[in-house]
Amino acid sequence: MSREKIQEWAQQGYWQGRFEHSDTPWELGHASSALFEAQEALSAAGIPLPHGSSVVIPGCGTGSDAIELARRGFRVTAIDWSPHAIAGLRDRAIATSVESEITPVAGNFFEVPPRTVDALAEHTFFCAIDPSMRGAYAERAAQWVRPGGVLFGNFFVLEPSRAAALPELSMSDRGSGPPFASTRESVVRDLSPHFECVLLQPTRFPESDRRPGMEWIGIFRRKSS
Ligand SMILES: C[S@@+](CC[C@H](N)C(=O)[O-])C[C@H]1O[C@@H](n2cnc3c(N)ncnc32)[C@H](O)[C@@H]1O
Repeated sequence: MSREKIQEWAQQGYWQGRFEHSDTPWELGHASSALFEAQEALSAAGIPLPHGSSVVIPGCGTGSDAIELARRGFRVTAIDWSPHAIAGLRDRAIATSVESEITPVAGNFFEVPPRTVDALAEHTFFCAIDPSMRGAYAERAAQWVRPGGVLFGNFFVLEPSRAAALPELSMSDRGSGPPFASTRESVVRDLSPHFECVLLQPTRFPESDRRPGMEWIGIFRRKSS
């Protein structure tokens, strides 16, 4: 794969173009069941996230998860590189009367100045960035989430032998580009400089139109230093 190809999905225009052309097969049209399975598992994992807690969502898209988190009483900062996606989120937040609980931000997650929050909600952003950016993701996530706070959500996890067979980890039907696979070991390793793994296991509520067995929920606690 050429360097130019690798950089394609590391540019704003790539994602804006996907939204402008309605080329967004990842959109569920509803909140992720696995993400909210992870959110509901937080108390049992010893990291309760009370109502009113602040949550950042990187790569929020048009905001199904942001709206559901706001409905559940969280204060949400929702970031996406695509202004088209953020405009969609704003419209939907107004239509569902949760706009006062959501701060939409059109920008690059790796450049938006971090504010301290209690949690980061992950859903199909980790798999959308180039795998070479995963260390930067952990670094940036740690700049947002307060020590003792939590990173929770869902991840696409493959058996190591299946992941190794993928060119550049790409699971795309196009043969290259996002989404990119992880293994259990690689997710834990990539986040470990700043987050301790509390739970990482297959979801009980996979989306019916997604790859069977690959949707896993994760809970990671922000280390104190
Ligand atoms: C696979 S989509 C997932 C969207 C949303 N989480 C969902 O499940 O519907 C990945 C999203 O990440 C956004 N994105 C990609 N790179 C980004 C970056 N560096 N900063 C912020 N958003 C980014 C894209 O615009 C896109 O909306």
